Amino acid sequence: MNKRIAVLLSGRGSNFQSILAASQSGTLGGQVGIVISNRPGAGGLDIAREAAIQTALIDHQSYESREAFDADLASVLESQSPDLVVLAGFMRILTPGFVSRFAGRLMNIHPSLLPLYPGLHTHQRALDAGDSHAGATVHYVTGELDGGPPILQAKVAVQPDDDEESLAARVLQVEHQIYPTAINWHLSGRLQFEQGRLHLDDKLVPPTGQQWEPS
Ligand code: GRF
Repeated sequence: MNKRIAVLLSGRGSNFQSILAASQSGTLGGQVGIVISNRPGAGGLDIAREAAIQTALIDHQSYESREAFDADLASVLESQSPDLVVLAGFMRILTPGFVSRFAGRLMNIHPSLLPLYPGLHTHQRALDAGDSHAGATVHYVTGELDGGPPILQAKVAVQPDDDEESLAARVLQVEHQIYPTAINWHLSGRLQFEQGRLHLDDKLVPPTGQQWEPS
């Protein structure tokens, strides 16, 4: 049966676009069934509409609590029975109840070499620290912010003349490679997460995720 994913986003949606492209070319192993945004102006919603993918807007500003927002989000998601829920620039912290409901089928991409720099301003923090490399990590989501088990990580060398913008742009290019790959691994049943250990094809995944090698 065709696997279905649900995408949650808040902004321009370039990661969603790379996932959509992989789906259209047959390399994702599934289809995007719905795109949900918490922001009315999210560019990702336009990309979905153009591709005739179902969209939903659940504006967090209309809710009095995080719990109420997450309850509506969960019920829209459950109506889709997704095999995987993908956070692609979704700028909301999810409640523990939501995270445990979708445990094992909730994935995020974070623009740093986790466990370095959870949270915001990751590229500036890497530059301020004088790091030789920056990058991005796809991970399963747990209750800890940007703290779930890393699946796949890509490194990018920091150049002497990099600023936050130039570094972010180069990291984004590798994000577009690794997110569809990690999603494909999940949808094709190659990832197993049990008792706190993540395996890919029965091999233990390193604590910072599989290291991505450009092909
Ligand atoms: C990406 O940098 C991603 O790592 C982070 O949010 C950004 C989303 O960008 N979680 P886009 O909307 O996919 O272009």
